[in-house]
Amino acid sequence: MSQEVKSQQNSELSPYEIITLKRDGEKLTEQQIKTFINDYSNGNIPDYQMSALLMAIYLKGMDPEETAALTQAMLKSGKELDFEGDLTSVDKHSTGGVGDKASFVLAPIASACGVKVPMMAGRGLGHTGGTIDKVESIPGFKAELELTDFFNMVQEHGLALTGQTKEIAPADKKIYALRDVTATVESIPLITASIMSKKLAEGALGIVMDVKTGSGAFMQKREDALALAKSLQKTAELAGRSFYYVISDMSQPLGHAIGNSLEMIESAECLKGEGPQDLEELSVHLAGAMIYLAGKAKSVEDGVDKAKAALSSGKALEEFREMIKRQGGSVDFIDRPDSLALASERTEVLAKQDGHIERINCKNLGLHCVKLGGGRRVQEDKIDHSVGLLFFKKIGQEVKMGDKIATIYHRKEQSDLVKKIERDIVERDVQISNQKVEAPPLIYETGESLSHKRKELA
Ligand code: URA
Repeated sequence: MSQEVKSQQNSELSPYEIITLKRDGEKLTEQQIKTFINDYSNGNIPDYQMSALLMAIYLKGMDPEETAALTQAMLKSGKELDFEGDLTSVDKHSTGGVGDKASFVLAPIASACGVKVPMMAGRGLGHTGGTIDKVESIPGFKAELELTDFFNMVQEHGLALTGQTKEIAPADKKIYALRDVTATVESIPLITASIMSKKLAEGALGIVMDVKTGSGAFMQKREDALALAKSLQKTAELAGRSFYYVISDMSQPLGHAIGNSLEMIESAECLKGEGPQDLEELSVHLAGAMIYLAGKAKSVEDGVDKAKAALSSGKALEEFREMIKRQGGSVDFIDRPDSLALASERTEVLAKQDGHIERINCKNLGLHCVKLGGGRRVQEDKIDHSVGLLFFKKIGQEVKMGDKIATIYHRKEQSDLVKKIERDIVERDVQISNQKVEAPPLIYETGESLSHKRKELA
């Protein structure tokens, strides 16, 4: 029997009929979704039919059960790690932002507090930087581990960091590439299934999700960020995982550094207790939530206290050092930041008027870094780890004319680009008001759900 006939018998409907149902706003069954994804993964459904289904989902949405079925189908397209009911396995994921280096701070903190952290991270996407691109600015660091090595490292040492391996949710990789070129990225069920299929495959029994909102986030509006958080939470609940989310501010960069080497240096400073306050506060909160989900704290607040202690005692810094060494990286930059590749040309951007910082176009700051070579414009682009920006001002802060707003790290031959970036920052990306401005909160809201097993422990 041909694959096509077999799959039609299973779902009883052809791909054409499934697309028609969704186009007309009908609910799809678990079996229909499963068959469609399997057949697409196996090459039995062409890209044009998958694209049509994606657009129908984009326009008509999916309810939580359909979203969970889509997540499971994508998850089952690849391998899954299994921590065999070990509640201490907890990972964190961010929906992406500018200057978001919190993973480098919170993962060693959580690990120092007894959490097993299987951190599988991504590369830069659009204006946002990627954890794997950043960590590769450390000479020698091996960020593409074999799945079994990754798993063994987490079991043995409690912490490992790797890029997405090809065995994990391969259907997502194929579907994501289609979404990217068919204007179907910004869909809550599709984003949920994409993120959660990968997170569930990692096997962690707890998931902490940092959903960003503001001018530097994919979900710029608070209500959209909350809807995404709730959708992710529901999918985690249906999969029997503990889940904690924060809706955090991305109307300005997190910390000061934007760019690969610069962000690694700032992360190490933070682990030494010398980092920017917002980066430390968010990292400690997220680590606190991981410690709580792992059953190593009575509440998130208790987890935060433990996280702060691991940071101030230097234990977290030690974990960070050990993880880098285990994965072949040089730890020299922790004590000698200039041992990382840093562009030799530095251009300062100065305020042209007095006032208070009112608004920052955070996405544009991310895009400046991409244009300098710190991110990719097309998939084949090679990253320049040495370039980027230090952005010093925060919303609500007072500035005087001539104050330093930013330092651009760039190559000599980029002087025309740098002049443009300088002009864009002062004339377009940063608005200064002559009135006082209130600083936005770092965390807007949080939510949690504990798995049955974790509840028994409470
Ligand atoms: N990150 C993902 O992994 N998938 C999406 O769809 C969006 C962000």
